[in-house]
Amino acid sequence: MSTKNGKNTKSGLHKVMEETSVNLTDRVAIVTGAAQGIGAVYARYLALAGCRTIIADVNDTLGRKVEQDLNQEGCSTEFVSIDVANDKSVCRAVNSIAERHGRIDILVNNAALFSALTKKPFEQIEIDEWRRVMQVNVDGTFLMTKAVMPHMRRAKYGRIVNISSTTVPMGRGNYLHYVTSKAAVLGITRSVAREVGEDGVTVNAIMPTLIETGVDTQVVNAATFDYILERQSIKRTGQPEDLARVLLFLVSKDSSFITGQTIVVDGGGIHL
Ligand SMILES: NC(=O)c1ccc[n+]([C@@H]2O[C@H](COP(=O)([O-])OP(=O)(O)OC[C@H]3O[C@@H](n4cnc5c(N)ncnc54)[C@H](O)[C@@H]3O)[C@@H](O)[C@H]2O)c1
Repeated sequence: MSTKNGKNTKSGLHKVMEETSVNLTDRVAIVTGAAQGIGAVYARYLALAGCRTIIADVNDTLGRKVEQDLNQEGCSTEFVSIDVANDKSVCRAVNSIAERHGRIDILVNNAALFSALTKKPFEQIEIDEWRRVMQVNVDGTFLMTKAVMPHMRRAKYGRIVNISSTTVPMGRGNYLHYVTSKAAVLGITRSVAREVGEDGVTVNAIMPTLIETGVDTQVVNAATFDYILERQSIKRTGQPEDLARVLLFLVSKDSSFITGQTIVVDGGGIHL
C-alpha cells in the first residue's frame, strides 16, 4: 500500500493496530474542526484506521498543515475549507466530497467555538456573541447532519458522532452560551437517531471532560485543570487520544446496536 493511490501505508495501519483493532479501510470520514486540537487527533486516528479522512475547517492554514502532516505519516487525508455555520458553504463542501469519493460513511461534528471564547457572567454575553456560538456549535451540527444524510441513507449506512461537553451536567458558570449549545447537541443526537435508525445510520455523542490540547485559550487555565483533576476518579488529565479511541469504537461495526447515546469520557468525574 502507498499514499499515492490514496491508501494508508502498512506502517500507518500498524501504528493504529497497536492502539485498536478497528479497521475502517475504504470508509470516507469527515471531521469538522480538524485543523487543531482534538479534531486533528480524531482525523489522525480515523486516517490511521484506514479512512479517507476529510479535514473540514474554516482555518485553511492550520487545516492544510494537518493534511500535510498526516499524509507524510502515510495517511490518506484531504483538507476542505468549510464554515459549518453557513448553509451554502456546508452544501458546497459536502456535495463536492460526495462527488469525488462516491460516499460519506462517517461524520464527526466536532467544530465549535470553544478555545476562541472568553468566560463571562451571562448578563455580559451580548446577543450577537450568543447567536454566533449557537450558529457554529448548534446550527453547524444540524447543517452538517442534514447535508450528509442523503448519502448515508442511500448507502443504508452511516455513523455520526457529535461532540458535547461535561460542562452540561456540571452546569459550569460564566459560560452560558457554550453550555447551552452543548446541551442542544445532545438533543440533536437523541432526536436524529430516532429518525435514521431504519436507514442503518447511528447517531451518538461523546461527552468529554476538560482535555489537554496545547491550544491557547482564555476559558481554561492551570486552576481549571486542578479543579477538574481533583474531582476525577482516574488521576490524570484527559488527552485527545482518550476520546479518539472511543470515537473509533462508535464509528466501527462493533457499535451497530448503539444509537442516540452519550458516552461520557471524563476519567470518572462522578463528583462534578
Ligand atoms: N478541549 C476540551 O477540553 C473540550 C472539552 C469538552 C468538549 N470539547 C469539544 O471538543 C471539540 C474540540 O475541542 P477543541 O479543544 O479541539 O477546540 P478548538 O477550539 O481548539 O478547535 C475548534 C476547531 O473548530 C474550528 N471551527 C470553529 N468555527 C468553525 C466553523 N464555523 N466552521 C468550521 N470549523 C470551525 C476551529 O477553526 C478549530 O479548528 C469542540 O466541540 C469542543 O466544544 C472540548
